[in-house]
Amino acid sequence: MTEEKVLDALRNVVYPGFTKDIVSFNFVKGIEIDDNDRVKVTVEITSSADEVKAQLIKEIETELAKAGAEDVYVDIIAPKKPVERSNSMTGKNIAPQVKNFLMISSGKGGVGKSTTAVNLAIAMAMQGKRVGLLDADIYGPNIPRMMGIDNVKPEVVGNKVKPIEAYGIEVMSMGSLMEPGQSLIWRGAMIMKAIEQFLRDILWSELDVLVIDMPPGTGDAQLTLAQSVPVTAGVTVTTPQEVSLDDSRRSLDMFQKLHIPIAGVIENMSGFICPGDGKEYDIFGMGTSEPVAKEYGTELLARIPIEPQVRIGGDTGKPVTYTQPESETAKRFQQAASKVIAFMEKVNEEGGADNAAIQPTTPPGVSACSTR
Ligand SMILES: Nc1ncnc2c1ncn2[C@@H]1O[C@H](COP(=O)(O)OP(=O)(O)O)[C@@H](O)[C@H]1O
Ligand SMILES: [Mg+2]
Repeated sequence: MTEEKVLDALRNVVYPGFTKDIVSFNFVKGIEIDDNDRVKVTVEITSSADEVKAQLIKEIETELAKAGAEDVYVDIIAPKKPVERSNSMTGKNIAPQVKNFLMISSGKGGVGKSTTAVNLAIAMAMQGKRVGLLDADIYGPNIPRMMGIDNVKPEVVGNKVKPIEAYGIEVMSMGSLMEPGQSLIWRGAMIMKAIEQFLRDILWSELDVLVIDMPPGTGDAQLTLAQSVPVTAGVTVTTPQEVSLDDSRRSLDMFQKLHIPIAGVIENMSGFICPGDGKEYDIFGMGTSEPVAKEYGTELLARIPIEPQVRIGGDTGKPVTYTQPESETAKRFQQAASKVIAFMEKVNEEGGADNAAIQPTTPPGVSACSTR
């Protein structure tokens, strides 16, 4: 056995959930080979999920046995210090008039990503920030309807486009640029181009924060965004079911791989507040995403209950945070917004956040939901 041979074998081991191998990700931190062709491999990963570790160990053992190792020992270690973060992948910023970029992501659709993007953006504006909201969900742009601007066409100035104003924030969406109901089938390269144009060719003002509603998943749009601007922070939206949490891990993993400091997790559809008695009932589970957040050294920013008003607000273009500021949901979005603003300030002060330094806190309301 040689180090070369070991590395070649490890190039066949794909990191679970991704298409790249552990060597390309630079996860292999040490290789030791003794005279009897026994091999020890040290792999450093941030994810502490046991299934991921077990799968990696099994695949590494299989590949190295195939390559001729007599015996294999795999040591999986966590990074000693938090991964050193820089929130700029390329040093590029194609929208320099924007101070902070906030990426709202989720592992899958339908969990309330757009709802969160809209209400967080409005909450921040209500807290005095100059806010923009970019709908980067090119396939399924919902922001125009949710912001009540689905019939508004943006003004074109030369070869640039002015964002549309609504509820005190600037908004742009693919939905505002095309005819209603028109569906789009995009190739990867076109998505990348569209994201770049949204940043460069939209006349955003000098904004404190541009909230970006991403398409679900972890694909080209996310990568393009991270390569075009220094993303200040990422928020993952999830629902409390276990199946959803698996997806949210993928989203958190993606933030780490893209060097995006993680502001936290929003657990949406977490409990149901009954309009009749005002009590909170458990539907999909509650508080289940806090351990996942902790795995990634971040915190649960808020639990947002299922409230019929949230859906109605979305459907009718009257976001609940603006139109019903006294509702429980509005209050929780305001709290989450304050935490995200504080987190982004910290990232800016430190020139890249160290997630582990942000202490997880108890989410608001968790101790108050003993209605079962
Ligand atoms: N907390 C909530 N309470 C009630 N309805 C919600 C809540 N969050 C989202 N919804 C509704 O669920 C649907 C999906 O939400 P959406 O924000 O469009 O998800 P995504 O952007 O992740 O696909 C929408 O109709 C929205 O109004
Ligand atoms: Mg959406």
